[in-house]
Amino acid sequence: MNDLQFSRHRRLRSTASIRSLVRENHLRTDDLIYPLFVVEGEGVRNEVSSMPGVYHLSIDNLRAEMDEVVQLGIKSVLLFGVPDEKDECGTQAYHEHGIVQVATRFIKEHFPEVVVIADTCLCEYTSHGHCGVIENGNVKNDPSLELLVKTAVSQAQAGADIIAPSNMMDGFVAAIRAGLDEAGFEDIPVMSYAVKYASAFYGPFREAAESTPQFGDRKSYQMDPANRLEAMREAESDVAEGADFLIVKPGMPYLDIVRDVKNNFNLPVVIYNVSGEYSMVKAAAQNGWIDERGIVMEMLTGMKRAGADLIITYHAKDAARWLKEQ
Ligand code: PBG
Repeated sequence: MNDLQFSRHRRLRSTASIRSLVRENHLRTDDLIYPLFVVEGEGVRNEVSSMPGVYHLSIDNLRAEMDEVVQLGIKSVLLFGVPDEKDECGTQAYHEHGIVQVATRFIKEHFPEVVVIADTCLCEYTSHGHCGVIENGNVKNDPSLELLVKTAVSQAQAGADIIAPSNMMDGFVAAIRAGLDEAGFEDIPVMSYAVKYASAFYGPFREAAESTPQFGDRKSYQMDPANRLEAMREAESDVAEGADFLIVKPGMPYLDIVRDVKNNFNLPVVIYNVSGEYSMVKAAAQNGWIDERGIVMEMLTGMKRAGADLIITYHAKDAARWLKEQ
């Protein structure tokens, strides 16, 4: 054996303490953003059937949820509204008393230190379920921008700390940045869903948000999962238009894109570990087929390793709990 030449990699794996010394990437509770679905009415705490552990919450039930979030050390939530009333133009998205606006005011009043991120889109609010305005059966880009700007400004007026536009219209960052500046919100950052694929992984979310398109699909505005260079073009234009963060979405199947974005741009990179990814883990765990804790921590750490600075995930509360226990 003495004349064999090889490397002894196992030296740095020999004990838990050595492994911890040479660990390259770390998941922190500060990295986690927790999505919440807020609904109208009172006393609502309905579990989304395809997303065990995720609830539709009315405002009166937000306090207990936020107490738990804060106690676990999570610093940021992403708000989605599920309104009772939907119409062609998604009026409730930009109504002063829309559900997200009310929830934002509530959280900022009672939990002022929590960073409230408002998802800026129309699909939860439109009767047709598309992310923009429909003309002759098509989602029209520029008329949609006007409504998205109104939505972003009204979210900022309600106290949102960060605006996160997820609609994938062209120019949405430029339009929203200009609209926010004009309304006096030049200090409010835009967390752009810069790279968002037309993904089957959004299925459970659409059930949760009641936002399934009533006709057609989102392929004329969300990206083709096969494309990589296009992701760079999307990120590049959002950076030029003034984005402060870049989101890549979904997460697990797009880690290569996260790395590309990280290597090519100097903004914080956010990965969205979406509903379908969550539901798959939950379903397998409920069947006893996988070790949920092991799988979730490995996935989230893998996202950090791929280059994500922040992770939007429905696993946030569990992950925060497990991080505390470590
Ligand atoms: C709204 C929006 C979607 C998600 C976040 N914002 C759905 C979609 O584009 O259909 C998906 C999130 C998830 O699946 O967890 N446009």
